[in-house]
Amino acid sequence: MLRSALMNVMTAAAIKAGRGLKRDFGEVENLQVSVKGPGDFVSLADKKSEEILFEELSKARPGYSFVMEEGGVVEGTDKTHTWYIDPLDGTTNFLHGLPIFAISIALAREGQLVAGLVYNPITDDMYVAEKGQGAYLNNRRLRVAARRDMADTLIGCGIPHLGKAKDHPKFKAELATIMMRAGNVRRLGSASLDLCFVAAGSYDGFWERNLQSWDIAGGIIMIREAGGYVTDIEGGSDMLTKGDICAGNEFIHKQLLGLIHAPV
Ligand code: IPD
Ligand code: CA
Ligand code: CA
Repeated sequence: MLRSALMNVMTAAAIKAGRGLKRDFGEVENLQVSVKGPGDFVSLADKKSEEILFEELSKARPGYSFVMEEGGVVEGTDKTHTWYIDPLDGTTNFLHGLPIFAISIALAREGQLVAGLVYNPITDDMYVAEKGQGAYLNNRRLRVAARRDMADTLIGCGIPHLGKAKDHPKFKAELATIMMRAGNVRRLGSASLDLCFVAAGSYDGFWERNLQSWDIAGGIIMIREAGGYVTDIEGGSDMLTKGDICAGNEFIHKQLLGLIHAPV
């Protein structure tokens, strides 16, 4: 796989930020036993990662705008290009010493996603996709799973945490319906990686509500370039603004949407 200049910029930034996250992840385990816990340390790791990404990407592509989890919106002089950055997606996993987290970077040109990258620095899994060029894990081309029968599937989802208890009833209703049809359901805790697992064919489908643009922008282009379908939960294409998402291959995506809208 030949990487474009743009993808070289993105991967270099992710590797640099990932080195810091990997180091900090090693420290987190030592902090688990302290009474205060590793909370402050983790938010510092998060901020450091974002600073590196912001610095590296601004240096390589001056003037582009940013939408970042920590730093918010930074308007650049170039209004046609916007980076979507999640410097640490899967914070709860990171905090608890689970190696399922990633850096997510996506680039939109005139509102269309043109490139995405999701990188887990612990496993060294680098997912990349560019519009019209396919999706890859390291150098292996990705393709969504071919299963058509819900009973054979592994479906991923996101569970609203305690702070979002008002969203629990809706989630429980959707899960109840989907559990009765899908083979198995998982909740792994990093939306960007979850979407890559759909692109790689490990998950047959995925749905989650109340996400942010930076959680999903990188994964959306990954799934499209792996031949999958990805929409908001109404079946439209407003995932980045609405923050809800449903994905899978042509068949499973359609069935999943139907189940989400027919809770028991
Ligand atoms: C979270 C993860 C998680 C999803 C949450 C997100 P964060 O991102 O993607 O899987 O369920 O809604 O907020 O906070 O770890 O960057
Ligand atoms: Ca984050
Ligand atoms: Ca996130």
